[in-house]
Amino acid sequence: MSDLDPSRIPVHIAAVMDGNGRWAQQRGLVRTEGHAAGEEALFDAVEGALELGTKWLTVYAFSTENWRRPKDEVKYLMGFNESLLVRRRDELNDRGVRMRFLGRRDWRVPKRLIRRMDESIELTQHNTVMTLNIAFNYGGKAEVADAVAQMIRDGVSADKVSEKEIAKRLYDPSMPDPELMVRTSGEFRTSNFLMWQLAYSELVFTDVLWPDFRRQHLFAAVAEYQARDRRFGGLND
Ligand code: IPE
Ligand code: IPE
Ligand code: MG
Repeated sequence: MSDLDPSRIPVHIAAVMDGNGRWAQQRGLVRTEGHAAGEEALFDAVEGALELGTKWLTVYAFSTENWRRPKDEVKYLMGFNESLLVRRRDELNDRGVRMRFLGRRDWRVPKRLIRRMDESIELTQHNTVMTLNIAFNYGGKAEVADAVAQMIRDGVSADKVSEKEIAKRLYDPSMPDPELMVRTSGEFRTSNFLMWQLAYSELVFTDVLWPDFRRQHLFAAVAEYQARDRRFGGLND
């Protein structure tokens, strides 16, 4: 971390926590044990983000496409995420982390999990050190579609449609776009994560499988980010 430029720490880091299944398979374990092992990685990444002073950390926990997984795995993930909230939210609260969730709250998400989400939001709502966004039943295309539907409900006419009108109807309009997105497990895609918000983010890919991810991998990703030349379509000197 001492190699990093403290004046250029991303305000918002997004992470695709991928590779749990392969991590487990490599060890002759069932896939769900990989998800369980991902918990330690997540909390070390949170600690790393706190050390960096990042204000927002958004993690992809369950996509709108993950319902295609075997029924047992989906069921496990619902229960696992619920228990994780119950077991870890006090600790996050003590660290000054505000918890938020991004995604569709449709009928497939168990009511109990939604209750835990609401309790976690309420418990941590006044915290200001960092926001931890958990993208759950999240899809970037769904988010944009939901924003457009809301725009129509609001009676916005075609000539008033703009990027700004869409952006203010996304799941969290107060959330700044991530400067950096990290994906583990050697997959080079975004898999429908923050499609709108990642338009100009720096993407960093690592072969590390999510359960092996630790804060030093996060710091390495930030170092790579700091070495990039961000032009936003313009030119730098
Ligand atoms: C990421 O790990 C966790 C979720 C998608 C819920 P995977 O379960 O996708 O692990 P791999 O990609 O199969 O190794
Ligand atoms: C993306 O990983 C979703 C999460 C990490 C929650 P996937 O493993 O679902 O993505 P694909 O299927 O490899 O694109
Ligand atoms: Mg995967």
